[in-house]
Amino acid sequence: MFKKKLMAVLLGTALAASMLTGCGAASDTNSDDASTTETVTEAAADDSTGSDSETESDSSGSGKKVGIAMPTKSLERWNRDGSYLEEQFSSKGFEVSLTYSDNKIDQQVKDIEALIADDVDLLVIAAIDGESLSQVLADAKDEGIPVISYDRLIMNTDAVSYYVSFDNYTVGKLQGEFVKEQLDLDNAEGPYNIEFTAGDPADNNAGFFFNGAYDVLKPYIDDGKLVVPSGQTEFDQVATKSWDTATAMTRFQNILGSNYSDGTQLDVALCSNDSTALGVTQAIETDYAGNNSVIITGQDGDEANLANIVDGKQTMTVYKAVANEAVVTLDIGIKLLNGETPDASLIDSAGWDFDCAYDTESYDNNTGKIPSYLLVPTVVTKDNLQKELVDTGYYTMGDDGYPHPTN
Ligand code: BGC
Repeated sequence: MFKKKLMAVLLGTALAASMLTGCGAASDTNSDDASTTETVTEAAADDSTGSDSETESDSSGSGKKVGIAMPTKSLERWNRDGSYLEEQFSSKGFEVSLTYSDNKIDQQVKDIEALIADDVDLLVIAAIDGESLSQVLADAKDEGIPVISYDRLIMNTDAVSYYVSFDNYTVGKLQGEFVKEQLDLDNAEGPYNIEFTAGDPADNNAGFFFNGAYDVLKPYIDDGKLVVPSGQTEFDQVATKSWDTATAMTRFQNILGSNYSDGTQLDVALCSNDSTALGVTQAIETDYAGNNSVIITGQDGDEANLANIVDGKQTMTVYKAVANEAVVTLDIGIKLLNGETPDASLIDSAGWDFDCAYDTESYDNNTGKIPSYLLVPTVVTKDNLQKELVDTGYYTMGDDGYPHPTN
C-alpha cells in the first residue's frame, strides 16, 4: 500500500525555491486575518511540480479554475497549505482563487458560494466546521463541481469526492507513544500526572487525534500509573474551540490553579496541536509552581513551537509535510477533471517521493465512506529537528538559531 522513494529533499527544495520566486499574478487583497480572496492566474510558469514524473511545461490545468477555501490565516499551518496549493495548481496552468474565511463558518459558506458563482471547475476545501457545508456543497454538486475535502473531512454531504489528509489517528498515537517512551511507562513505577488538551469539536480531525493519544495511554491511566488530577479525560471536557491558543491557556491556568497549586507535580501536558500547546506552555510558564520540565506534545511544526522545542519548552511536535498534501490534492484534481476515478493506482503512477496510503474504510462522513489518501506524519524533537525539517528543505535555520519555514 505504501510507496517509498527518495525525493523528499528535492521536493522541499524545489517548492521552497519556486515559492521564493513568487506566484506570478497573485494579488493578496488583505494580509491579516479578515476574510480574504486571492486570485492567481499562471500558465505553467515554473518548475515547482512535486511529482518528479511530470514535465516542467505541463499545462494540464490550462483553462481550468480551482477554488481553494482555507479556514483562517490565524492558525499558522493554513498559510502554508494555501501557499503550497496555490503553487501546485498554478504550476499546471490552473487559475487559482484562494479564500481564507477568518475561522467564521458563515463567511466560509459565502466564500464557497462565490467560488461556485465564479464557475470554478474544482473545489478544494479545508472546512472550519465540518457539518456546516451541506447546503452549499449541494449547490456545487448540482453544478457538477467535484469537491476534495482537504485535511478535515466534510461531514453529512454526498458532494465530497475524495479526502486528502494525514493519518489523523496516527498523529495522536505518535503523541501517546512518545509520552509512553519518555516516561518508560512499562517499567517505571510512577505514578505520573498528566493533563489533556484537545482540538475544536467542529473539526472532525480533533477526535481522531485525541483518541489516538488516549488509546495508547488509557491502560496506564486504568492501572494508576498515569493520573489525571483534573479528572478531565473526556474529549468534550478537554476540547478547545477553534483550536485557539488563548482559550487553551485560560483553561490550563484554571487546571493548574485548581489541581496543582498545592505543589502537585505536573509531568505531562498532552496537547493535540501546536496552537493549543502554545497556550498550555504559556500557562505553565506563568501559573505552574513546580520547576520540573513538563513533557509537552504538539502537532504541525509552527514557528513559535519549533522555537520552544529548540529552547526546551516544548518537547515534541508531530510534523505533517503539507507541501506533499498539496501535491496529492493536485494529482487527484487533475484526474477528476479528466473524468477519471483516482484509486490506489495513483500512488504508483504519480511518482510521488513520499509515503501515502489509499484508504477506503476509515473515513465515513455519514453519507458513506469517502476514499482517502493519507500521508504519514513524523515525530520531531530537538534531537531530530535539523534532519527532519531543515535538511529536507522545509525549514531554514535562521541566524537567530531557530528554524523558519523556507517559503
Ligand atoms: C489540522 C491540524 C491543525 C488544526 C488547527 C486540524 O484540522 O489537521 O494540523 O493543527 O486543524 O489548525
